[in-house]
Amino acid sequence: MGIKIELGRRYRFAASHRLHTDRLSEEENARIFGKCANPYGHGHNYVLEISVSGEIDPATGMIANLADLDSFVQREVIEVFDCRSLNEDVAAFRKTVPTTENLCIEIFERLKGFPKGKLERVRVQETTNNSFEYAGK
Ligand code: NI
Repeated sequence: MGIKIELGRRYRFAASHRLHTDRLSEEENARIFGKCANPYGHGHNYVLEISVSGEIDPATGMIANLADLDSFVQREVIEVFDCRSLNEDVAAFRKTVPTTENLCIEIFERLKGFPKGKLERVRVQETTNNSFEYAGK
């Protein structure tokens, strides 16, 4: 067995969302989500950090080529979320509230198929004061 090591990579995207669920009344939505339930939504500059583990390829000295990782993340996440309305543009959030918790899980599910390493966890920072991490089930 080779040496197992973990690589971290950071990405950024901007997206808007509205925290609101049809399961609750307008009053309950307003009480629970506050101004985040405003009908026209609001935006965040999200920071996504991902960790991928693997064994070092003795030939390249790397576990995965960053260019391969970048193009995978670009296709699976950035192109899907960047400059979008999470509620309107992303199918996963038609019925699920696009909280950062749920965004974190959705991103993990989209990235876990990365073929050149094992996705260990994703961390999504919504503001400088809050972030969420998910490592799969
Ligand atoms: Ni928000």
